[in-house]
Amino acid sequence: METVLSGIRSTGNLHLGNYFGAVKNFIKMQEKNNCFFFIADFHSLTTHPTPQDLHTNVKKVLSEYLAAGLDPEKSTLYVQSDVPEIPELYLLLNMNAYVGELERTTTFKEKIRSQPDNVNAGLLTYPVLMAADIIIHRANKVPVGKDQEQNLEMARKFARRFNNMYKVDYFPEPVPYNFGNELVKIPGLDGMGKMGKSAGNGIYLIDDASIIRKKVMRAVTDSGPTEMNQKPSDPIRNLFLLMDIVSEPDTTSFFKEKYSKCEIRYGDMKKQLDEDIIKFTSPIREKILDVYNDDKYLSKVVKMGAEKARESASKTLNDVREIIGFKKF
Ligand code: TRP
Repeated sequence: METVLSGIRSTGNLHLGNYFGAVKNFIKMQEKNNCFFFIADFHSLTTHPTPQDLHTNVKKVLSEYLAAGLDPEKSTLYVQSDVPEIPELYLLLNMNAYVGELERTTTFKEKIRSQPDNVNAGLLTYPVLMAADIIIHRANKVPVGKDQEQNLEMARKFARRFNNMYKVDYFPEPVPYNFGNELVKIPGLDGMGKMGKSAGNGIYLIDDASIIRKKVMRAVTDSGPTEMNQKPSDPIRNLFLLMDIVSEPDTTSFFKEKYSKCEIRYGDMKKQLDEDIIKFTSPIREKILDVYNDDKYLSKVVKMGAEKARESASKTLNDVREIIGFKKF
């Protein structure tokens, strides 16, 4: 069985784009693979959250993923900071990671630009920590988005370098795992690109009905079709794409036909769309709130995850220490 691993950033809430683009795939993967999913709270320290926020963010993200369908019985679901073997492996890998190559990483260069007042060493070695996250379980496959592919390439490099340095064939080289064309891109509501956390164009699973209604009503449209069978503009195509995902096929074809005949009223379409989005998200929202308020359940999940993760991680770390040459007196 293959080992699949992915880290979840502990910032922001889950939106429909995350749900259909990533979480649904995680849920599928956990059926057929040995899966590790964790909340990357060490990584989040690069932006210096307050102690209060650090914990709340982890709790929020954990509740959302559980509510969305990650199953702690099927996957190993844990919080990164509960596994001290990870920072130890990170320390060891840092000795073979070169400052030059780290400085050349695109994500690091972007951070220098976006937060010039906080270019900390943790940002520089972010790819090393990410490599430690992955290879601590000797994972083969890593489901990540395009923006993380360079970090994954670095993880492969560090794994290979370790193997070469000690003339072992110990770490597999982790490869990106995505569903290629099956990967759904969810558009945002601003008539432009895909739904994103920072873009402010998203619908969050935790949004209540009135927020969703407001967001959909404000979604960008155009002045309407003027010719029969006209090709819809980007904003309209985006709304149809959202409809494809949350509405019944009949509903979608009804509005597509109206559009083709230049009879569409965007207000009606939006009303239908917001109803269907709410129908889809409200059970998940309720579940998120239930989980979030169930401290006993959360603590059980986290404890179980930490135990399973540490079992796997400590095995790797013992091997690594032996390979490097640490000996017991
Ligand atoms: N860097 C990833 C992100 O920003 C999160 C992450 C941390 C991760 N460690 C990982 C992803 C290990 C995959 C594997 O989204």
